[in-house]
Amino acid sequence: MAAETFDLDYLACLEDSSRKLESTSQQRLELMLKAQREVDTYLEQLSLDHPTGWVIPPKEVQGQVQGPPMAELLPIQENGVSIEVALQHFSRIGEEAGREGHPGHMAAVPGNSTAPGAIGDYLAASFDPHHVTFSRGAVNMQQQIVQWVGQLFGYPSTCAGNLTSGSTAAIMVAIGTARDKKVPESKDYSRSVLYISELTHDSVEKCLNTLGMREAVIRHVPVDDQYRMDVNKLRKFIEDDLKDDLLPFLVVATTGTTDVGSVDPVPAIRAIATQYNMWLHVDACYGGFFVLCDSTKHLFEGVETADSISVDPDKGLYASFGTGLVLMRNGALLQNSEDLTFEQSGHFRAPSIWLPLKLYGVSTFRDALQEKLELAKYLYLRLKNQPHLHVVKPVLSVVLFRLTGASDNANNHSLLEKILADGRFFITITTVKGIQYLRACIFCFRTHRKELDVFINKVLSAVAEMGLPEDDSSHKG
Ligand SMILES: Cc1ncc(COP(=O)(O)O)c(C=O)c1O
Repeated sequence: MAAETFDLDYLACLEDSSRKLESTSQQRLELMLKAQREVDTYLEQLSLDHPTGWVIPPKEVQGQVQGPPMAELLPIQENGVSIEVALQHFSRIGEEAGREGHPGHMAAVPGNSTAPGAIGDYLAASFDPHHVTFSRGAVNMQQQIVQWVGQLFGYPSTCAGNLTSGSTAAIMVAIGTARDKKVPESKDYSRSVLYISELTHDSVEKCLNTLGMREAVIRHVPVDDQYRMDVNKLRKFIEDDLKDDLLPFLVVATTGTTDVGSVDPVPAIRAIATQYNMWLHVDACYGGFFVLCDSTKHLFEGVETADSISVDPDKGLYASFGTGLVLMRNGALLQNSEDLTFEQSGHFRAPSIWLPLKLYGVSTFRDALQEKLELAKYLYLRLKNQPHLHVVKPVLSVVLFRLTGASDNANNHSLLEKILADGRFFITITTVKGIQYLRACIFCFRTHRKELDVFINKVLSAVAEMGLPEDDSSHKG
């Protein structure tokens, strides 16, 4: 029988190949410089001289994208290619996708990372603690952020929290905890009731499904004339449900609705939640960091009494996408850290929040957010007395406006088309209390007065182009 042999040459050959995964300082620098050039090219496009990329580009610029076909760039192949070739796909992302950080992007809730936020991600991936809870330094950084945000909302230092992959994940952790505390037995899921307002973000309902509570009852509480959850109607729903032997277990208040920017009356909702032994979650995903600003701080009164809060650093702190935050007022309710996350290994999210906060200081973020509030007010005032337009006074940084008059829905769509036509702005239409509005969410840190003036002129000239009859503006309101 032949003796067992070992092929040292083969092993050396494998080692040669696998050593490519290591890098020298010089190689890293070269990679970074080339990537940096690509980043610069992209960031230079984030101005009104370029389209937002969200809207179908005008016919003249369609089909002008340069470079090899996508099919040559994307496939994962047996052998590697140079960084220059690989980076070409990033130019495509810049050229062909919606530009999230573009100053004319005012749809949804625009986000975008600051440079230190992006570098925070690079540091995170380079240090790469496998399970953040096993790295004291990483835990400390994360806890620093959690405690700081907890304090912003008035939570005690005994609160607990975690960074999540986004707000939906944060809301899911909160609802999962609410379920375990208030509806411990799955046989009761079908009689348990969640109360949200008609303006609650749809991620809340999605979470209920993901948590296996698809059969739970959901009540959409109407909003009042200021677009806030109507607490009398909430109470009535609960009373009726109790009579029907249902189990009210959770109410979600929103401090900054996505559609309107309205803020639910948290103290009144807290009182009701307490009376009926329900969990109160506050969804502060979009509006939460406006708690930093003097002019809007009062809107967050009562949030400190919520059992849990979700807030999104990748919105209000301009961290990179994929960084949400969940907070629980009573940290002791949580048996162990697993209650705060369903992840084991996960991305080290803290640096993309922590590094910008360290480098710029909190005051810079406060000013940037206050600037957005002022810009929203500015837009409101500039459109307010214009013929044919009705504008809703903003609470935070969302401004709703629409054409007045009987046939406004069809006209609003053509107004939107005109505003979007040259691709420099991206806003959408939303329907609130059965009425359609054009919606601008001023949130991107690159949107300043100069951009807003161009936007306002665009809106006014689009309205003028529509040639509406004089008497249309008599329908204001
Ligand atoms: C109020 C509110 N809640 C929840 C979400 C969902 O956040 P994410 O996209 O981070 O999951 C959003 C997103 O815009 C939001 O505005």
